Amino acid sequence: MTGIDIRHYDHHQAAELRPLLLDVYAEVYGKAAETDPFAGVERFAQGLDGWSSRPGWTCTVGYDGDQVVGYAYGAPLPADAKWWGGLLTSVPADVVAETGTRTYALSELMVRVPWRKTGTARQLHDALLAERAEDRATLLVDQEHPKVWALYESWGWTTLGDLRPRIPDAPLFHAMLLDLPQR
Ligand SMILES: CC(C)(COP(=O)(O)OP(=O)(O)OC[C@H]1O[C@@H](n2cnc3c(N)ncnc32)[C@H](O)[C@@H]1OP(=O)(O)O)[C@@H](O)C(=O)NCCC(=O)NCCS
Repeated sequence: MTGIDIRHYDHHQAAELRPLLLDVYAEVYGKAAETDPFAGVERFAQGLDGWSSRPGWTCTVGYDGDQVVGYAYGAPLPADAKWWGGLLTSVPADVVAETGTRTYALSELMVRVPWRKTGTARQLHDALLAERAEDRATLLVDQEHPKVWALYESWGWTTLGDLRPRIPDAPLFHAMLLDLPQR
């Protein structure tokens, strides 16, 4: 399980990557999707297509030999980002003011079960963010997954507040932030 090869992609490769990304999603979230409509592959595919059509979309995919082990992706928030629209915690307006180059949103991170607890998730996360020029990153973690929340906190993320995206069946999330090294 050592020697994971991490490859970087951008929106030019999104169509080519799409089947791979959907297959891994279906495997990782298969059980959750049985009871949670928000975890369904169709909803995920719509989200993926929205994210990956943005010119700033980037993705890291991990390979162990010829096997895909997981991936991470995201994109910068545009100046008129809807991302913060569902924020339920009151914060000063400047905290959620976007410019198009201020914040990179880490939309997805998932690793197939055999490669969990191997450091692969952290590698995918770090490799994705290491390429970014934004000031900070943001992500949403489901409040029903406290261990994942704790994992992100252990990686340096801080919690801004509660957020429920204004889309059907959306769970309540912790909105998190991470300062990115300045270039
Ligand atoms: C999140 C993830 C990438 C982290 O991988 P990792 O660094 O190898 O860490 P682990 O898999 O050990 O996860 C840490 C803990 O969170 C728990 N956890 C992980 N994903 C979870 C989920 N979707 N729901 C509930 N708990 C989850 C794990 O069971 C583990 O708990 P444990 O220490 O008691 O065994 C990986 O667990 C994963 O792919 N999970 C499914 C997808 C997911 O939830 N992604 C995060 C979206 S914000």
